Amino acid sequence: MKIAKFKIEEWMNKYESSALYDLTTTCIKPLSINELCDSIPNEVLNKPLGYGDITGSLRLKKAIQSLYENIKIDNITVTHGAIGANQLVFLSMLEKRDEVISIIPTYQQHYSIPESIGSKVYKIFLKEENNWLPDLSEIESVISTNTTLITLNNPNNPTGSVIPEEMLEEIIKLARKYNVWILCDEVYRGLNLNGKPYSKSIVDMYEKGISVGSMSKTYSLPGLRVGWVASRADLIEAINKQRQYNTISVSYLDDYFASVALEQRSRIETRNRIIQHSGIEILKKWLKCEPKMNCILPSGGTTALVKYKDNIPSAELCAGLQNATGVALLPGETMEMEGYVRIGFCAENLEKALVNISNYINSPLIQN
Ligand SMILES: Cc1ncc(COP(=O)(O)O)c(C=O)c1O
Repeated sequence: MKIAKFKIEEWMNKYESSALYDLTTTCIKPLSINELCDSIPNEVLNKPLGYGDITGSLRLKKAIQSLYENIKIDNITVTHGAIGANQLVFLSMLEKRDEVISIIPTYQQHYSIPESIGSKVYKIFLKEENNWLPDLSEIESVISTNTTLITLNNPNNPTGSVIPEEMLEEIIKLARKYNVWILCDEVYRGLNLNGKPYSKSIVDMYEKGISVGSMSKTYSLPGLRVGWVASRADLIEAINKQRQYNTISVSYLDDYFASVALEQRSRIETRNRIIQHSGIEILKKWLKCEPKMNCILPSGGTTALVKYKDNIPSAELCAGLQNATGVALLPGETMEMEGYVRIGFCAENLEKALVNISNYINSPLIQN
């Protein structure tokens, strides 16, 4: 199966590890095992490292179930991160004849995997003038009885927009009319900045809703490589059929630590909210004083999509910035959003990094 280059991941592989200030990150300072638990029980230390429970332990599935209003254990399967979850959804649902509507910018899996399968993908771009929210009339103009799937990412990476519940209801109404599934990548769910931190999940709103979740963002444990799909039991069965070929199980240790984390998630959520709210305040203050940068402020998540004034390709800007200052940003070009950069506002040393960005874009190195 031929597939397009995963531009974000390629950029991060090249630039992230050498950054002095890593603003490409979408994570909130990952937790250590010591921060997660005081001690590891002997029962865990002595447990032989076999494959463990194939589709995830009952303990982990119960913890995942508690994130939703109305799902049962057989509505869940555990995957290698959200990246594994998204891939399994596409591979188990799509064929060449299927059509997909993908709301962009988003994680590239949501259009490149369907395209690699040969499905027709309609890309609908979020626009600043709509506060980075989907335009229903644009979805309406391409949806048909040939459509199999709409893919959303809510809260959205990179814009930080959060689709209001009423708008989700409208999208669902449209999907229901054409009998279309909705995949909602909810890896930033729980990170709304305004109102309730958790938006309602698509799986609690729509009988053909597919929720993808993960330990990586809201719970600060990207190194565990644990994600999941929550959806209708028959779809989970189809996903598990596909899953046999690429997962077997997640590691017993990943499953154990993910269970521990979700069982005490309010502690992690409180810690992360402090970092997230402090980050957004720092970003707001900087934007007020930096006329060369403009942004619709995020309502959730960990990233902002910032428009810059200089007439220079985003990849050139980001490479030059990192070379001169050590600050790593993600160029819009990697997200089909030329003219923008993504700033991870939950990054460490954000304030210093932003000062460095200002110094660079206002230096003679950048002329415009
Ligand atoms: C929207 C989105 N989906 C999925 C992923 C992959 O997450 P995971 O680390 O759980 O595989 C990311 C990672 O940045 C993401 O931003």
